[in-house]
Amino acid sequence: MELTDTQLTQFDRDGFLILPELFSAAEIEAIRAELPALFAEKTAANIPEKEGGVVRTAMGLHQRNALFDRLVRHPRLVGPARQIAGPELYIQQVKVNVKAAFDGDMWQWHYDFATHHHDDGVPRPLALNLHIFLDDVSHYNGPLYFIPGSHKRGPAPARHDTSSTSYPLWVVDREPVAELVEAGGIVPAIGKAGTALIFGDTLVHGSPANMSPWNRSIFSLILNPVENAQRTFARPEYKHHTDFSPVEALSDDCLLKMP
Ligand code: SIN
Ligand code: MN
Repeated sequence: MELTDTQLTQFDRDGFLILPELFSAAEIEAIRAELPALFAEKTAANIPEKEGGVVRTAMGLHQRNALFDRLVRHPRLVGPARQIAGPELYIQQVKVNVKAAFDGDMWQWHYDFATHHHDDGVPRPLALNLHIFLDDVSHYNGPLYFIPGSHKRGPAPARHDTSSTSYPLWVVDREPVAELVEAGGIVPAIGKAGTALIFGDTLVHGSPANMSPWNRSIFSLILNPVENAQRTFARPEYKHHTDFSPVEALSDDCLLKMP
């Protein structure tokens, strides 16, 4: 799959793309079927919410599960990523952010490069975050909020927040967020299950808590150019994978035709 010139121009201008229902209902069902067993595993790569113990994010999934090992090489993810970020990309991070009904906590305002740079020594903001909605995502169940154009106005100063949620994150404070929103507004990333998102490393985003009765799980794959690989190795493997070999795309039916 290839992005059109219009989509590439939009990505450059806004810092993100929303691709409605890029994956079929059957593909999403196949992915979702793997989740209960993965979430039940006792592993440090399943990080619980601060309160209540429900899984907040399940990481390193391509190393834990055969279907996710195929999903990270899916041509509908790898193709567009290569168009934007170049031909040689390695798999930096693979997870499902769960944001369970009633219990799913917020993700503070942030841009991913602040964490990639400060925690992992990634030199430049070239990584891409590729999401697939595994549930319908609405205004109510904690969608991502994007600030369009924020990638062109920054990077804003970032602060390491180890207390707001269970997941340490480099975040952006209120004043710079207010200025960015004044300039660009806020776009909620909503759509049916199967919808995909692509956004860059300096786009400011966040998401509110899920106080609705509807789950909101989202798959996330971060791909980074091989020449821009991490330089420091303080975080565990499941937060930044250290196999820097370029990802190769599989066939388009790789999720439904498992060997
Ligand atoms: C979220 O799952 O709402 C946040 C995802 C992200 O920051 O990439
Ligand atoms: Mn993020």
